[in-house]
Amino acid sequence: MSQEALIRTRELAKRYKLVAGLFASSSRWVWALNGVDFELRRGETYGLVGESGSGKTTLARCLVQLAPHSSGSIEYLPGDGGQPEGWEVSRRSPELLRRFRSEVKYIFQDPSSALDPRMSVFRVLSIGFRYSPKYSGPSALKARAVELMQAVGLRESDLERRPSEFSGGQRQRISLARALFSNPSALICDEVVSALDVSIQGQILNLLVELKRAYRLTILFIAHDLTVVSYMADRIGVLYGGSLMEEAAASEITHRPLHPYTQLLYRAIPRLGGGPPERGVAAGTPFNPTRPRWAAPSSAAARWSRRSAGARSRRCGRSHPGTA
Ligand SMILES: Nc1ncnc2c1ncn2[C@@H]1O[C@H](COP(=O)(O)OP(=O)(O)OP(=O)(O)O)[C@@H](O)[C@H]1O
Ligand SMILES: [Mg+2]
Repeated sequence: MSQEALIRTRELAKRYKLVAGLFASSSRWVWALNGVDFELRRGETYGLVGESGSGKTTLARCLVQLAPHSSGSIEYLPGDGGQPEGWEVSRRSPELLRRFRSEVKYIFQDPSSALDPRMSVFRVLSIGFRYSPKYSGPSALKARAVELMQAVGLRESDLERRPSEFSGGQRQRISLARALFSNPSALICDEVVSALDVSIQGQILNLLVELKRAYRLTILFIAHDLTVVSYMADRIGVLYGGSLMEEAAASEITHRPLHPYTQLLYRAIPRLGGGPPERGVAAGTPFNPTRPRWAAPSSAAARWSRRSAGARSRRCGRSHPGTA
C-alpha cells in the first residue's frame, strides 16, 4: 500500500450557526469540527469512529464540499503528475471541482433517500455521467452499467427496474454501482451498512472489500460499530467532540488502544457470553457542542478531560497520545 496522501486536511474546522428562536436572545454556534489534521492515504481503508454527534458526517461532507468548512484547508492530491500537484478543494474552478467530485464519491447511509424512486436503475447509474467529458456514447454507457451491475452482484435485467422495487441491501449495491460509474479513486462510505440487517451487513462489507481490490479504491469508512471498522480498516481514527483523539494502524488500536476514550469505546462492545458492556462508558456528560465550556478553541485533551472529570474516571492530560 502506498503511503502517499490522496486527501489531506490541516486544522479543519466547521461550525454551524443555530438560528435564534423566538425566545433566544442570540444565535448560537455548533462547533462540529475543531482543528482536524487528517490524511487519507492512497489505497488504504481508513476507519473513522466516534459516538453520535462527534462530527464524522460533518468531516465527510466537508471533504467533498457538500458543506463548506469554516477554516483550515482540504487538499486533494490526485498524483497524476499534472499541475498543480495538490489542490485546495474550496478554491477550485468549477471544472476542477467537477473532476474532484467524479473522483471522490460520497455514499450515504440511507440508500432509499439517495436514489430517485422515479428513475430506472439504468438512469440512476448513468445520469450524472451523461454530461461528463468521459462520455463516449450510449452503447459504452450501457456496457459500463452492465459491468457494474455484475460487479455489485445484481443482474443486467435489474437495470430496467426502479430502486423502490429492491431490498435495502440491494439498494446499497445500486448506490455502490452508481458511485463507481465515473471510475473514482476514492469512496467515502458514511455508515453504509448501519441501516441494514446484520446478515446483509456482512455481504455488503465483503462486497466493499472485493470492489476495493477490483477497482483499486481508497476508502474512508465511517461507522459507529468498532467491530465492523476493525474488520475493514487499515488505519483507524477516533473522533470525539470534533477532534481526532487517537489514530493508529487498525491492529495496533484494536489490541492496544492508548487513549482513555478509545479504551472506553472498545470496552463498550457487547460480547457473546461476556455480560453487559462496561458501565463506565455511559458515565460522564457527553460533549455539548453548543455550550461555551465545550466549544472551541480548545484542545482535544481538554475536551475529553472535561467529560472524564465529570465521570470521575481517569483524566487525559496528554493531547494526542496515540497519534502516529
Ligand atoms: N446542518 C446542521 N446544522 C446545525 N448543526 C449541525 C448540522 N449538521 C450537523 N450538526 C451538528 O454537528 C455535530 C456533528 O454532527 P455529525 O452529523 O457530523 O455527527 P456524526 O458523528 O456523524 O453523528 P452520527 O453518528 O449520529 O451520524 C452535531 O452536534 C450535530 O448536531
Ligand atoms: Mg453521521
